Amino acid sequence: MTTLRSSAPTGPFATYPSLRGRRVLISGGASGIGAALVRGFVVQGSAVAFVDVQDEAAAALITELGTESGAVGVAPIYRHCDLSDTGAIPGAVADCIRLLGGLDVLVNNAGNDRRHASDTVNPAEWDELMAINLRQQFFVTQAALPTLRQSGSASVVHMSSIAWRIPSVGLPAYVAAKAGIVGLARSLAFEEGKHNIRVNSIQPGAILTEKQKQLWVTPEYSAEILSRQALRRHLEPEEVVRLALFLAADDSSGMTGQSYVIDGGWV
Ligand SMILES: NC(=O)c1ccc[n+]([C@@H]2O[C@H](COP(=O)([O-])OP(=O)(O)OC[C@H]3O[C@@H](n4cnc5c(N)ncnc54)[C@H](O)[C@@H]3O)[C@@H](O)[C@H]2O)c1
Repeated sequence: MTTLRSSAPTGPFATYPSLRGRRVLISGGASGIGAALVRGFVVQGSAVAFVDVQDEAAAALITELGTESGAVGVAPIYRHCDLSDTGAIPGAVADCIRLLGGLDVLVNNAGNDRRHASDTVNPAEWDELMAINLRQQFFVTQAALPTLRQSGSASVVHMSSIAWRIPSVGLPAYVAAKAGIVGLARSLAFEEGKHNIRVNSIQPGAILTEKQKQLWVTPEYSAEILSRQALRRHLEPEEVVRLALFLAADDSSGMTGQSYVIDGGWV
């Protein structure tokens, strides 16, 4: 049986002076890669707000960060927001911006890779999957843009996936949405470049979050992942976070309109 061992390097890793004090909004920050993003930006000394629907997980993360010795930033702010409800987005984003006192970085991380069969998916389910995997990424950004334009050095990072690059089966709406995000990021990069807002996307491969371990990563799938990757170990959420931190920091100041694969060499 394949063990879900990662053996990823443990650091030390980069600290970005430009991220200290930056005001950061992260969607889907209560668990998985999103929680690692919240942790990562807090450790950089950024002021972080995050939205999610998992109130208990969000509260536990804030408590954990308050007692973690590595956390040098202020405690993150949490707002409940069901991002599938487009009408709820402007108020939640405005609330976070008000509490942060502005906005410099937006990470559109929330998503849902719930499986759905091509033979049976109906229009309502398709729309529901698009609402969380593509529509909200646009409307969160739309709500944030007027404030991001005032930053002078803003960065938007969208979470795509390699799912549309590899032969994915059993989640066609998710795959279509993740391909759409790459196009969305490029379009917004060209529209917002004149305001010095950079917009990029990240395409993670198989990232070993708790949810992935519980729901999808069987011993067989684990073995398949390792056989597809060049690196023969599983990737951790923190490895995606380190790419997002770089894209948010001024160290990547010339980079916009691009999409970056982080998948251990799968695609
Ligand atoms: N884990 C992977 O292997 C992997 C691979 C490729 C891409 N990604 C992408 O990276 C991002 C994060 O992945 P993850 O594995 O941590 O996902 P996840 O499903 O574990 O977490 C997503 C977060 O979004 C939140 N969320 C879901 N629906 C929401 C809604 N309607 N309103 C508000 N918040 C909502 C969840 O509560 C959760 O905290 C997603 O966009 C995902 O598609 C993940």
